[in-house]
Amino acid sequence: MRKMNPQLDRHGHLHHFLTTEYLPKDILLHILNVAESFLPVNKREVKKVPLLRGKTVFNLFFEASTRTRTTFEIAAKRLSADVINVNISTSAQVKGESLLDTVSNLSAMHADMFVVRHAESGAPFLIAKHAAPHIHVINAGDGSHAHPTQALLDMYTIRHFKKKFEGLQVAIVGDVKNSRVARSQIHALNILGVNEIRVIAPKTLLPIAVEKLGVSVYHDMEQGLKDADVVIMLRLQKERMKGIYLPSSQEFYNTYGLTPSKLSAAKSDVIVMHPGPINRGVEIDSFVADGNSSVILPQVTFGIAVRMAVMSILTGQSK
Ligand code: CP
Repeated sequence: MRKMNPQLDRHGHLHHFLTTEYLPKDILLHILNVAESFLPVNKREVKKVPLLRGKTVFNLFFEASTRTRTTFEIAAKRLSADVINVNISTSAQVKGESLLDTVSNLSAMHADMFVVRHAESGAPFLIAKHAAPHIHVINAGDGSHAHPTQALLDMYTIRHFKKKFEGLQVAIVGDVKNSRVARSQIHALNILGVNEIRVIAPKTLLPIAVEKLGVSVYHDMEQGLKDADVVIMLRLQKERMKGIYLPSSQEFYNTYGLTPSKLSAAKSDVIVMHPGPINRGVEIDSFVADGNSSVILPQVTFGIAVRMAVMSILTGQSK
């Protein structure tokens, strides 16, 4: 029996994709494997397969995005779906329409899938709860809570470069407290069975009782990065900070900014990841961001195949 999970249907299949928390390992691995099967599609001259032909996908981004919104649009188009990017700033939301009324009206236009980003944690869950049973909801990032497709493309990137999860030391550095990406990564890394997940940050940038998530806590970069296989950098998410967390961005860079010198504590074949957007000279030095260890741009490319995989699995097109 599967643990009760609002994302799964009564057969234990993914119906929505809202969080990596409590997802069975076989489902995470299935997404990665299906994504791998889509990689060649993205290299063909005609980059299309008909799996979502006739389906209508609404991109509902209530918060800014470059990578997630565009790769979801590309992924849906490569699956032959009709894609509608709702421009929230010019939608009836500005006239006071509620989130659920907006969704009800889009559902009346025969929506099959909503891809939702929202500044409020829980908004995609609320939509999933109220959506008609045939509609699938994907969380494209909600507040500081979860960003499951980002975490899955990050898992894909790790497996692509390291060929395994077992035995890996993964360090996550920076503003973990405000990061939905870090939360989703930590759940996924624990489920997939890496050896150790380290979070490296000042106390002010860590959630209370972060150890309960199954991580080791470090405040010193040299100790935390020692022999790391994977380093994931996070930006300071100032849009979610309430109050002053740090003396200054320069002070943060001096202590926690990833420079070639700090990175030398990690393994020689370390990969450096970042969900983006990167802030050069704040959490990462350009020599690292553009250096040989960086896999930041491959992460973006893999995001298309991973999002194709999630959409095709939700709609039952990839078994
Ligand atoms: N990684 C990520 O979510 O980037 P965007 O905010 O550009 O979508």
